[in-house]
Amino acid sequence: MFLYSFKMHNLISMQDIKKKDAEEIFHRAKFMENVCNFKAGYDKWNGKILVNLFFEPSTRTRMSFEIAMLRLKGRVSNFAEKLSLTSLEKGENLTDTIRTIDSYCDILVIRSPKAGTAKYASEIAEHPIINAGDGSNQHPTQALLDIYTIKKLKGKISGLNIALIGDLKFGRTVHSLLYGLAMFNASITLISPNDLRMPSFIIDGVKNINKNENIRIKEIYDKDKDINKTIKEGNFDVIYLTRIQKERFADIEEYEDVKDTYKITKSIISDNTIVMHPLPRLNEIDREIDNTKNAAYFAQAKNGVPVRMAIIDYLMENFYKDRK
Ligand code: CP
Repeated sequence: MFLYSFKMHNLISMQDIKKKDAEEIFHRAKFMENVCNFKAGYDKWNGKILVNLFFEPSTRTRMSFEIAMLRLKGRVSNFAEKLSLTSLEKGENLTDTIRTIDSYCDILVIRSPKAGTAKYASEIAEHPIINAGDGSNQHPTQALLDIYTIKKLKGKISGLNIALIGDLKFGRTVHSLLYGLAMFNASITLISPNDLRMPSFIIDGVKNINKNENIRIKEIYDKDKDINKTIKEGNFDVIYLTRIQKERFADIEEYEDVKDTYKITKSIISDNTIVMHPLPRLNEIDREIDNTKNAAYFAQAKNGVPVRMAIIDYLMENFYKDRK
């Protein structure tokens, strides 16, 4: 039924993912849509247990992982709703927590405010680890579902004119997405306030990984520039907005200074432009766009379930094949 398997047991960062891995996940996600719609059955992971270990708030990622595992006929346990009810409150360290939970389950999904937590967990856990967001570092499952959504709506990624707009410094979704879009050869424009530019180490990392390709990344970072004119004239196939990440600012005044820099309205986008956002959103997208064919953000959130089903399926399959 599936194309092939590689030995990818963990999903920590988009840097680790080969194009073939991503394509295999997209191929499986298409099949998983049929499982979600009851057009196909799939019970390979019947009884296996996924643990959601979330140390930061989440609606979409935690819920869609839970639903994904349930659709795969597996079971789910969520680490306590309140961390104050766990032994972390008694001073237990993260290492002991991860080792213990790893011994109870078959796959772990981790979200943490600290960059590197998922990678660390993958070094001490026996079972597959999925990074559901680590600080302002990476959110690779979001990038995969974003690219899957663009491919579904636009039929391709290569050659598309895509703008990433907003908090490109602290936004982990756009860090992961930049790696993924470059891998599929999109033409990328980065638009942000000067203080919230995409970190240069990420742009350099993307160029380094794709050094044999003609990577097209352009930056526009003047806060006072006429952004509406830039967007109108850019005639983008995809506009990907991000929330300014208030929780990552050390100085609240700096946040107040940039918080409402961007607001996309219907009048400044082309008929064929799709507007995406990982959500939650604040004021970045005018709600008049919600009921137009430009709005892709709810379709994007919906795709989170089949794509995460495909990720769980792929990692678990590789893990059990190698364990034999
Ligand atoms: N996109 C995303 O990560 O949303 P949540 O924070 O609701 O999981």
